Amino acid sequence: MARFHELTVKEVRKTIRDAVVVTLEPTNGAAEDFDFTQGQYLTFRRDFDGEELRRSYSICAGKDDGILQVGIKRVDGGAFSTWANEDLKPGDTLEAMPPMGGFYTPLDPGAARQYLGFAGGSGITPVLSILKTTLEREPLSTFTLVYANKAVNSIMFREELEDLKNTYMGRFNVVHILESDAQEIDLFTGLVTEEKCAELFKGWIDIEHVDTAFICGPEPMMLGIAAALRSAGMDDSQIKFELFASAQPGRLKRKAESKGASATGNQASAAITLDGSTQTVTMGKDVTILDAALDNAMDAPFACKAGVCSTCRCRVLEGEVDMVANHALEDYEVEKGYVLSCQSFPVTDRVVVDFDQ
Ligand SMILES: Cc1cc2nc3c(=O)[nH]c(=O)nc-3n(C[C@H](O)[C@H](O)[C@H](O)COP(=O)(O)OP(=O)(O)OC[C@H]3O[C@@H](n4cnc5c(N)ncnc54)[C@H](O)[C@@H]3O)c2cc1C
Ligand code: FES
Repeated sequence: MARFHELTVKEVRKTIRDAVVVTLEPTNGAAEDFDFTQGQYLTFRRDFDGEELRRSYSICAGKDDGILQVGIKRVDGGAFSTWANEDLKPGDTLEAMPPMGGFYTPLDPGAARQYLGFAGGSGITPVLSILKTTLEREPLSTFTLVYANKAVNSIMFREELEDLKNTYMGRFNVVHILESDAQEIDLFTGLVTEEKCAELFKGWIDIEHVDTAFICGPEPMMLGIAAALRSAGMDDSQIKFELFASAQPGRLKRKAESKGASATGNQASAAITLDGSTQTVTMGKDVTILDAALDNAMDAPFACKAGVCSTCRCRVLEGEVDMVANHALEDYEVEKGYVLSCQSFPVTDRVVVDFDQ
């Protein structure tokens, strides 16, 4: 089971005015635990005025960079991201869980594939990790990145992307779409919408031969891009998503059933396995599996509590739960019985769940 480890901050570098790249080093022999797959993220925890916050940040380093690095963009009024941008410094210690997430596809050194990445703002971080790793480890493959930003001065990793174009000449191409800065080509100004993608697929991107597309950015942008990819003939299995937003539409909370909430019909017995041991708890059917575990002093993993990050994933072995939001699990995982425990309420009177699988 994933647990928090201490990481030493080695470097904090500004990439643009309101974003930092943080280089981290695992301490106390935890290096192996932080051996990541391209596109994965780390979940940090920190106390802010006595309240523990957990926030996830994607690893932006490639597998062959030999470092662990995340990119954190400051969100206006955001607690963790503002602190990281203003106060975090080399020598500090951060606590993080080992890398998690499934925003990647397996690489094959002999494959000659065409990849297409879409990133919006800070959504570049996992896509950068994926594209660097892919270009290095699949020498016959190509990668096209469509990167959306407000203006030139808000492009994270701009120089690094230019350097990659030179290093992987002919195999890596980047199209910058800027919301407010006019560009020579009209199509490259404005928002990345379904219509804009359709235009890009006409003359700029050879969509018919794309094997896999990666999308990470604001949700409306992601939905528009996915619709355009589907219209262009791509199958859902070829499209990988990573959603960053913490306030999700569809983040419904079950209405608490005030009357008779403790009556037997509104209660369930949940056998919860974590770290190899099982506790059976009695819980309300208006309580999530995650909260039931935490309420019973079980140290279940979580981060966003919004159905976005998948840190809280568990597997339902018996009984039925209602998962009210899912922005993280793939269809095949759901078919195998995996659920986001922060979004799952018991439906049957008995459920058996396992966090260790
Ligand atoms: C899998 C995953 C990967 C991610 N990777 C990255 C990454 O690589 N880089 C990156 O920059 N981000 C990433 N994120 C987003 C990141 O985790 C945080 O959500 C983001 O940094 C904001 O956190 P915060 O603590 O700064 O803001 P928060 O304090 O959570 O605030 C978020 C917003 O809510 C508003 N708000 C806060 N409290 C209130 C309130 N009481 N009432 C009304 N509004 C309020 C704030 O003003 C702000 O606009 C990722 C998210 C996920 C799920
Ligand atoms: S804690 Fe992020 S999906 Fe449940």
